[in-house]
Amino acid sequence: MAYQVIARKWRPQTFREVVGQRHVTQTLENAITQKRLAHAYIFCGTRGVGKTTTARILAKCLNCVKGPTATPCNECEACREITAGSSLDVLEIDAASNRGIDQIRELREMVRYAPASGRYKVIILDEAHQLTDEASNALLKTLEEPPEKVVFILATTRPEDLVDTIKSRAQLFQFRSLTFQEIAAALEHIVKEEKLEIEPGAIAVLARAAEGSLRDGLSLLEQAIAYSGDKIMDAQVRELLGVVAEEVLDDLIVAIADRSAEKALQLVQRLHAEGHNLQHFCREAIRHMRNLLVAKVSGAESPLIAAPTDERPRLARQSEQFSEEDLTRFFQILIATDDDLRRKPDPRLHLELGLLRLVNSARLAPLEEVIAELRGEGPARPSSASRQTSASSIKTNAAVMAAGTTQTTPQAMASTAAPERAAPLPASAPRVIAKTAEKQFSGLATAQLEAIQSALQDQQKFLWSMVEHASRWELAGGEMNLYFPPESRALAEMLQARDPMEKLRTVLSTVMGQPLRVCVKLDSGRNSAPRASELRARFEEDPIVRAMLERFGGKISEVKRRSED
Ligand SMILES: Nc1ncnc2c1ncn2[C@@H]1O[C@H](COP(=O)(O)OP(=O)(O)O)[C@@H](O)[C@H]1O
Ligand SMILES: [Mg+2]
Ligand SMILES: [Zn+2]
Repeated sequence: MAYQVIARKWRPQTFREVVGQRHVTQTLENAITQKRLAHAYIFCGTRGVGKTTTARILAKCLNCVKGPTATPCNECEACREITAGSSLDVLEIDAASNRGIDQIRELREMVRYAPASGRYKVIILDEAHQLTDEASNALLKTLEEPPEKVVFILATTRPEDLVDTIKSRAQLFQFRSLTFQEIAAALEHIVKEEKLEIEPGAIAVLARAAEGSLRDGLSLLEQAIAYSGDKIMDAQVRELLGVVAEEVLDDLIVAIADRSAEKALQLVQRLHAEGHNLQHFCREAIRHMRNLLVAKVSGAESPLIAAPTDERPRLARQSEQFSEEDLTRFFQILIATDDDLRRKPDPRLHLELGLLRLVNSARLAPLEEVIAELRGEGPARPSSASRQTSASSIKTNAAVMAAGTTQTTPQAMASTAAPERAAPLPASAPRVIAKTAEKQFSGLATAQLEAIQSALQDQQKFLWSMVEHASRWELAGGEMNLYFPPESRALAEMLQARDPMEKLRTVLSTVMGQPLRVCVKLDSGRNSAPRASELRARFEEDPIVRAMLERFGGKISEVKRRSED
């Protein structure tokens, strides 16, 4: 397969070439030079981040003619054999496919005989968490009386599934997912060495799609080469991966900033006419909005932004036009739109509705201006002075919004809220706050979680009744981690059985459109969802809530997590 070519060709052959795992390679280099090698290592981390690569380099360090050395020569016979995968001293076992105890027995036999020629035997066990209990026990016996000159490297994406007795006898290294910048730089380097031409925008698209895995990045690059040849154009890569041009996103931002429903509708018309997948567009818009939000909160130089350097001034400019509150609201609207697009039959209609909501929500009185005024700070931004309140907006504070600015509209001046009269809280405000108190998720959007929920409810009601107790969802790389609060331990254990796990994996992979590993974990408690009392305390302390209560009267009757309603 073509993909093998680049990923294999560019497999790092020295520790220095390994990207982004210096904390691991440095420690291994030190262990070698100080002759303090462990008998067993656990390399954990998601797929395609350098675990196998590092394991093979370590094998070379040990068996190079110049070795043990932290800088193997890569020229001697031992080095070359290890690179080629033909060394008898290095054994790679895929625990996922050889799950039987036989292999481990064989391995123990092999290990028993000291390696010929004084070399090290290096045993690399891939997907080590998949070993059967019996195989783990056999391995453990070997680790209890570690033979001279044998080094085990257990590579796994799920270290928590390894038995503790094995873990306690091994040194554990956590490989991290690679950043957008690291992947982009690596791709750029390889493209240059391969004497290919690639547009910077194309690199960015590939690096984003790699989602932290350099192997995935290389595989996508390989596909792009197959598709475009030696000159890889931004537009072609976008076409290949179904990603819209950045200018389309710029147009969306202009439509929102101008509050132009017409521009928004024209945009949908254009995407439709050009045959774009509207759902893909929506996802891109979400990504872009997230970047703007991060730019607003942490600055455009933030490493949290998945964008190349030359795109950052543009993000900074765009984010300046809106407040953090605005951007958060836009983000939420897009996520809800994405959900509609996924579930409902007419994507064009729902995208139009979604974009109209975006445009209209830019007209609403921004909450923080109300708050700023309540605090006596005056409106945060004069630019929104000309905004009009719409029916669903906070009618009573129209005057607040307009006060202190130069261009007040007559309607805005017309009404003033009587603070002592208890008005219902505007729906938009508490929802924003409640979000922080509800279940935590990282790596996946609310809409995705909701899609998962509806799929499970449709297909596996019973499974959902267990899964819904998860307090934290975490999607990273190809892995979905579900954290359960300590009081749901029994549920978590039930879920871990093979059958429900398999069903869950199938449903999640289908909904998310990618093969996923699913991991059930117990939450340490520190990060778990707050208790109701804490929730209430947090809510009461929230400056926005307090200002709202002061302004509109009323009291907090009950604070609920979103999941409870
Ligand atoms: N940290 C990294 N630095 C450089 N290349 C990497 C890195 N991680 C992955 N790669 C590329 O991806 C390929 C597969 O990586 P591999 O080490 O097998 O990943 P893992 O074992 O973590 O799944 C390598 O051949 C290499 O081309
Ligand atoms: Mg591997
Ligand atoms: Zn060598």
